[in-house]
Amino acid sequence: MPNKEMLLIPGPTPVVDEIYEALAQETMSHTDLRFAKIFSEALDITRKMFNTDGEVFVVAGSGTLSMEMALVNTVAPGEKLLVVSHGYFGDRFIGVANALGIQVEALSAEWGKQVSTELIEQKLREGGFKAVTVTHVDTSTGVKSNLDELVPIVKKYGALFILDGVCASAAIEEDMGKEYGAAGYTIDVVLTASQKAIGVPPGLAIVAFGPKALETRSQMDKVHCYYADINNWIHIMKEPFKYFATHPINMIYAYHRAMKIIEKEGFKTRYRRHNAIGKAIRAAIVTYGMSILSREEIAAPTLSCILYPEGVDDQKFRTFLAQKGLIVAAHLGPLAGKGFRIGHMGNVTNDSLCRALQLIGEALQEQGLPVDPERAVQVFKQVFAENMEDV
Ligand SMILES: Cc1ncc(COP(=O)(O)O)c(C=O)c1O
Repeated sequence: MPNKEMLLIPGPTPVVDEIYEALAQETMSHTDLRFAKIFSEALDITRKMFNTDGEVFVVAGSGTLSMEMALVNTVAPGEKLLVVSHGYFGDRFIGVANALGIQVEALSAEWGKQVSTELIEQKLREGGFKAVTVTHVDTSTGVKSNLDELVPIVKKYGALFILDGVCASAAIEEDMGKEYGAAGYTIDVVLTASQKAIGVPPGLAIVAFGPKALETRSQMDKVHCYYADINNWIHIMKEPFKYFATHPINMIYAYHRAMKIIEKEGFKTRYRRHNAIGKAIRAAIVTYGMSILSREEIAAPTLSCILYPEGVDDQKFRTFLAQKGLIVAAHLGPLAGKGFRIGHMGNVTNDSLCRALQLIGEALQEQGLPVDPERAVQVFKQVFAENMEDV
């Protein structure tokens, strides 16, 4: 079932034939050992991808459920949480924490920028924070967080490091076994979802708990939820033929296929490919006189947040593209109307990105801008190749 449109919003991302075929397989019983084998294999690859000795949980739900699972199993009502926010999705943790009765404080950056590490350290010095949330890539701003800087600061103050990988997992390394500068300075929880760089349709919440986060849950009393309580799932993830709640069987087939594709590409190669794509797209886009919201060092490999030059009509621009079969996303919040967002992650192909660049050029030409689409495509190919070369 080839895709009729180029869905280049920052998730859901284009689904490849192999994954559609997996989705369309006959539904088995959720307690069938053949199904359990498929699920276990997918979970094993997920553990490998996050390099964790802890446990991974894959359940029916969206990324917001995985945010909720991360918090409800680590921070009790009344305990303190610090949210480091680089945009709309960083801020979403405030809402989740409020709903759970967690005492939340937030440091929110101006859109397109990062929160300064000095501010974070100053806040943590006040003491008492049980956990800190960081959004690896905020999908509203295209800002990538710097884990090398942030993990050591958070761990120095003894808080759990919770990483939202919804717009990053499987495209940027999230290594929970890695020690950032000192023993025990590790990422404790990564939460994510199926529909972005993993390349599966929306519908799965995926959460990895490292050993310290699992220990935290075991020291907590009851938590105020049922479906999201990892204690109800932990034995199921070890033996997926057991029952707690019915698995989304066909989505697990698709997830299994997607994890196989990721493993086959190689985690490191996949991260490098995304890095190269991000650089190449940004280099091509600026040839059109458009600009990127954030500076290059913090721009995400998975999506680009682009600002129009003077005089471009947003609605007309995106409608032109949609009529040609290219779907991009509008900006959110304070940036609405000022540009657009394009996703370039998952199983997206370079051919489709070149076609997208060509169409973006044509959309600008239609609004009277003297741009050169052939040159933009050439720049994309050249910068991509340079960044995929062996170092
Ligand atoms: C970084 C990030 N976190 C969380 C979410 C919420 O995920 P969902 O919409 O699947 O609930 C999104 C959604 O796009 C996101 O981009």
